[in-house]
Amino acid sequence: MAATGIRRIALLGATGSIGRQALEIVDAHPDLEIVALASGSQPLEELAAARGVEHVQVGGDLTELLHASAPDLVLNAVVGFAGVGATLWALERGVTLALANKESLVAAGDLAVAAWKRGGGLLLPVDSEHSAVFQCLEGRAPETVESLVLTASGGPFRNRPLADLESVSVEEALAHPIWSMGPKITIDSATLANKGLELIEARYLFGLEYERIEVVVHPTSVVHSLVRFRDGAALAHIGYPDMRVPISFALTYPERRATPVPALDLTAPFSLEFEPPDPERFPLLRLAREAGERGGTYPCAFNAANEVAVAAFLDERIGFLEIAPLVEDALGRVDGSVARDLPELVEADAEARRLAAGRLAPA
Ligand SMILES: NC(=O)c1ccc[n+]([C@@H]2O[C@H](COP(=O)([O-])OP(=O)(O)OC[C@H]3O[C@@H](n4cnc5c(N)ncnc54)[C@H](OP(=O)(O)O)[C@@H]3O)[C@@H](O)[C@H]2O)c1
Repeated sequence: MAATGIRRIALLGATGSIGRQALEIVDAHPDLEIVALASGSQPLEELAAARGVEHVQVGGDLTELLHASAPDLVLNAVVGFAGVGATLWALERGVTLALANKESLVAAGDLAVAAWKRGGGLLLPVDSEHSAVFQCLEGRAPETVESLVLTASGGPFRNRPLADLESVSVEEALAHPIWSMGPKITIDSATLANKGLELIEARYLFGLEYERIEVVVHPTSVVHSLVRFRDGAALAHIGYPDMRVPISFALTYPERRATPVPALDLTAPFSLEFEPPDPERFPLLRLAREAGERGGTYPCAFNAANEVAVAAFLDERIGFLEIAPLVEDALGRVDGSVARDLPELVEADAEARRLAAGRLAPA
């Protein structure tokens, strides 16, 4: 935080679902100030003028914007690999990173962790599951932690007969039962690729081996995640599913300021059901775990091929059930070796995109 007591925030992905909710949180606190705004293609003039923000960028290299605006905190709410440069920029410099853009941590993996170690700053997860785990872990000795349990809502197709998934429309896949989010993460939530990305994200954030990170389906999403400890206790983070809670937690850390989200009403019935994810229905979860365990640039390739497949599904070029095979095929053909720097990572990302896109019928 600056000597003025004002926290200077660079908001990347300002026009998106997370970006808009972040603006609502910022507006509630006079000591939070937006000093930079970025989007992919939507104009930002109006937003910038209303807030007197000098540093604005639409598309392109986000690190120039970060350099020029010198924020205390970067909220990376860009979607996809496009956020990787900003994530590495903040980690390398020890600038607090509030991370919604999970794809960047998944893709950059060991490179990001090394930059984080060198920079020595805070990495505050905005994903609700990881924010929950972060909070359950705060102040606990690592040797007391047994495992992490990430909860998944199961998306709109949890109970749909498998045979019907062949013909689900884009509209149906975009109708998430719990969360209202951007289109890419909504499709990832229907395939559980999102939980696969989160599994890899958790590995890098919390340093536990994959075998100690479980995923369970919990349809009401009241439990945001759990940590199991060696004495048999499990700590859970519970509340209504509302992204303003983890966004506010990250933006006001370590103060945990109030939000407009109501307290959980324990006089009204709610369900705490859990079930294991169905591996046949959700093959992308297995593929993510395998990519994570293989290491190198396999997680980067998983993410890249998935981005291509999701975009193709949203463009109605492939069906819902073709997303996972496209990713599996690309993962079977990529090089996967370790990236030593950002250019090598960008090349690994591009290779996986080429391989996945090459399997699509011409548009
Ligand atoms: N939404 C949620 O509830 C939620 C929950 C947990 C995690 N997340 C994660 O948060 C991230 C954002 O998700 P979202 O739901 O907010 O997505 P979204 O609504 O689609 O918004 C994406 C944002 O990224 C911007 N963007 C896209 N490409 C860009 C580029 N090349 N450079 C700069 N900005 C770019 C978009 O700008 P334009 O509008 O100009 O395209 C938009 O502002 C994703 O990584 C997602 O997995 C989201």
